[in-house]
Amino acid sequence: MTDNNTLSGRVAVVTGATSGIGAATARRLASAGASVALLGRREDRLKGLADEIGTAAVPVAVDITDQDAVYAAAATIRSALGPVDLVVANAGVMLAAPFESAQTIEWDQMIGTNLNGLLYTARAFVDDLLATAADGKAADLVLVGSVGGHQVFPNYAVYTATKAAVAHLTRGCGQTSARAAYGSRTSSRASSAPSSAPGCSTAPSARCSPGCFRPCRRCPRRTSRTRSPTPPPPPRA
Ligand SMILES: NC(=O)c1ccc[n+]([C@@H]2O[C@H](COP(=O)([O-])OP(=O)(O)OC[C@H]3O[C@@H](n4cnc5c(N)ncnc54)[C@H](OP(=O)(O)O)[C@@H]3O)[C@@H](O)[C@H]2O)c1
Repeated sequence: MTDNNTLSGRVAVVTGATSGIGAATARRLASAGASVALLGRREDRLKGLADEIGTAAVPVAVDITDQDAVYAAAATIRSALGPVDLVVANAGVMLAAPFESAQTIEWDQMIGTNLNGLLYTARAFVDDLLATAADGKAADLVLVGSVGGHQVFPNYAVYTATKAAVAHLTRGCGQTSARAAYGSRTSSRASSAPSSAPGCSTAPSARCSPGCFRPCRRCPRRTSRTRSPTPPPPPRA
């Protein structure tokens, strides 16, 4: 996370705010002074978190696999909070099964949520981000990926494929005209970074340059976050 001064006064959207990383991110953003729209399907959980956070939070129940519903949610959020300048596209589903016996409906759910839903979320707010950036203010798009986007695990072929798509999408966002002047940027999971142009970030932050996921002597930003030669255990969710 960036410091509170950077987040104070921001208008954020967090998908998957009913549990886990999304709920924690929403709490953190609100505690740093941001207004936060909380998105997810379980309305009771959204309302519970909004009550906990206070007036800075707005619960908006939505299934992000429904593009029209996402656009309607974006309109509701703009009415309530104004233009959005920070989007954390976090909602995701991880379902494990051997490829040969998996239920294809579970594939649809993962692709629909982890990829399509993330795309709908980003597209619904990108005009807000661009307008904010054009005003010289910080605007950030955080796409929550996974270590599974960079390496494979038994029984997680489709999940890791969706997260590989998120990683590649993030690199692709870095090539858009809005980002071209700033180069690629990475950040920790569900973090934001100040910028004068919309930023695309993915988690985990593991590369020193597009396509580089290994420690290398040429890497100017080699840190402990660089991929370990020992594969970590499968992701939990
Ligand atoms: N936890 C980890 O160790 C880990 C590791 C690597 C990557 N990640 C990634 O981090 C993100 C969050 O993971 P987590 O562990 O916090 O997961 P989680 O606790 O299972 O939460 C997933 C969230 O996604 C929401 N969601 C799922 N389908 C949705 C849909 N169709 N529409 C709207 N919201 C939907 C859920 O809300 P509702 O059910 O209420 O809709 C829930 O709030 C995911 O993208 C995951 O792939 C997690």
